[in-house]
Amino acid sequence: MSMPLYGGAHQRRITTHDLISAKSVGEKWPMITSYDALTAGIFDEAGYPVLLVGDSAAMVVFGYDSTIPVTTDDLIPLAAAVVRGSSRAMVVADLPFGTCITADMAVATATRFMKEAGVHAVKIEGGSEVAPHVHALVSAGIPVIGHIGLRPQHVFSMGGYRVQGRGEQAQAILTDAHALVSAGVFALVLEVIPYELAKEITQSIPIPTIGIGAGPHCDAQIIVWQDLLGLTPGKPAKFVKQFANLRSEISQASAAWATEVINSTYPDLDHSYE
Ligand code: KIV
Repeated sequence: MSMPLYGGAHQRRITTHDLISAKSVGEKWPMITSYDALTAGIFDEAGYPVLLVGDSAAMVVFGYDSTIPVTTDDLIPLAAAVVRGSSRAMVVADLPFGTCITADMAVATATRFMKEAGVHAVKIEGGSEVAPHVHALVSAGIPVIGHIGLRPQHVFSMGGYRVQGRGEQAQAILTDAHALVSAGVFALVLEVIPYELAKEITQSIPIPTIGIGAGPHCDAQIIVWQDLLGLTPGKPAKFVKQFANLRSEISQASAAWATEVINSTYPDLDHSYE
């Protein structure tokens, strides 16, 4: 019997082969974003098999209001930190907006992530139109995750962050999924699409689907950790289920410390040197 993907049973980095094998035995797994060595260490110790250095860093690290401005130079130090902070998870980096206009550009960007940050795979947003890019990446020895449905890098052309693949659009997304599988992706992110469509894609391809707002039938699920743990401000998207409220915990704890400083309660002698 193969070892479970989640939980840290593997004493080595998870491989694409492990993820594809999990699908063949119907094992579901979680994937989470990480942008620094400390959270990478926490998620790696918990046994997450895959960590994504997402271009969502644009918003949750750099404070932009979309993923568009973030650059390869911005993400490489974050990806390097995540690799250093982990020892078992596969680390995947997002190829940022504008860095994959041609297949050659995609290979050059991904090569930088692999050589300078040490990531083990990359993720590319796009449908059939990026199939040649995927083919070029895979031919260069770079494992690739595809990303279809809601593509945050296309927020302006999509007219906002909306559900994709309803009605007649469904066929186009199904076609994209098959084109990317034929081009060689080893897993496919399905973002904010109807769950019945995600089910159909999941059942019709041999590689894992990784859902985010794509319902319960995907092989894996991914989440931005700040959304999961309640650090992101504002109303979360419908698909987000919060498992903590770090925003209020951090706010209360830091206010308590500030009050002790103002009252001269901190530092007391227990926190001072003789
Ligand atoms: O950038 C990101 O974090 C992502 C995931 C949410 C899929 O692309």
